[in-house]
Amino acid sequence: MATTHGGARFRHGPWRGSATIAQVVPIGGGAVDREATEEISSLVLGLGFHKILTAALGPGEQKPFLEFGYRIHEPLRLLELNLDPDTIDRSTRPTRRMRRRDVAASLAIDTASFTSFWQFDADALGEALSATPTSRRRVVRSGQVVLGYAVTGHANRTGFIQRLAVDPANRRTGVGSSLLADGLAWLQARGARSVLVNTQPENEAALSLYDQFDFVERPGGLAVLCLEASPPRLRSANNEETT
Ligand SMILES: CC(C)(COP(=O)(O)OP(=O)(O)OC[C@H]1O[C@@H](n2cnc3c(N)ncnc32)[C@H](O)[C@@H]1OP(=O)(O)O)[C@@H](O)C(=O)NCCC(=O)NCCS
Repeated sequence: MATTHGGARFRHGPWRGSATIAQVVPIGGGAVDREATEEISSLVLGLGFHKILTAALGPGEQKPFLEFGYRIHEPLRLLELNLDPDTIDRSTRPTRRMRRRDVAASLAIDTASFTSFWQFDADALGEALSATPTSRRRVVRSGQVVLGYAVTGHANRTGFIQRLAVDPANRRTGVGSSLLADGLAWLQARGARSVLVNTQPENEAALSLYDQFDFVERPGGLAVLCLEASPPRLRSANNEETT
């Protein structure tokens, strides 16, 4: 659901179908200030949610939320690549379009690859695919078995590595770099100038992979923020007045 507060527009709704956790995503319009943050937060908590998570926000976007009382829930490193045709490695393994029947296997790889907070279900995969005007979904298969998958998005001059995951039993065999190279070549052909990806600070494998492709870190990174509603004051039996 979209709503406007002080000119700033937000999308809000349940986080991954949760009845108690909501997600708030600034979606443009005017600048988000503390007042707008307070209004959207009160609105969402008033709907009965106990906790609010934001989208991954940059340092400037985080400020009014932090001032209002949000805390950093998941810090992320933001990496950027200036696309240069000479720097794109060739895929060493062929990639294929993700078919409908590849989705379950891809999601199983996703579950094996990320902590529960970041895991994709079918809805989250759909959101990643539709987050940009155009996107590309690819898999690497061995026979009919999916070894890894990637979702790459493109909007104007910018590309986004939305998802990349390789079956743990098939890592370090060039699947991840082939999927990444495929996404970068697709972005290059579509006229993207730079590519963004975010990753958890401790994800050595991903950081090393992106480093190999010449991604550099953008200072400040990103973070998902969280606001917990104050728990309702509990009246213990001891506090209850006896009549
Ligand atoms: C990151 C990931 C996609 C890499 O996939 P992969 O198929 O193993 O990658 P590749 O075999 O193509 O490796 C390419 C390079 O990445 C780096 N790399 C990959 N795994 C690494 C690890 N565990 N430790 C250090 N470097 C690693 C190396 O530089 C490697 O080159 P090398 O094998 O010649 O040394 C995989 O580890 C994964 O799915 N991780 C969990 C999900 C994830 O973090 N996705 C990225 C989110 S942004």
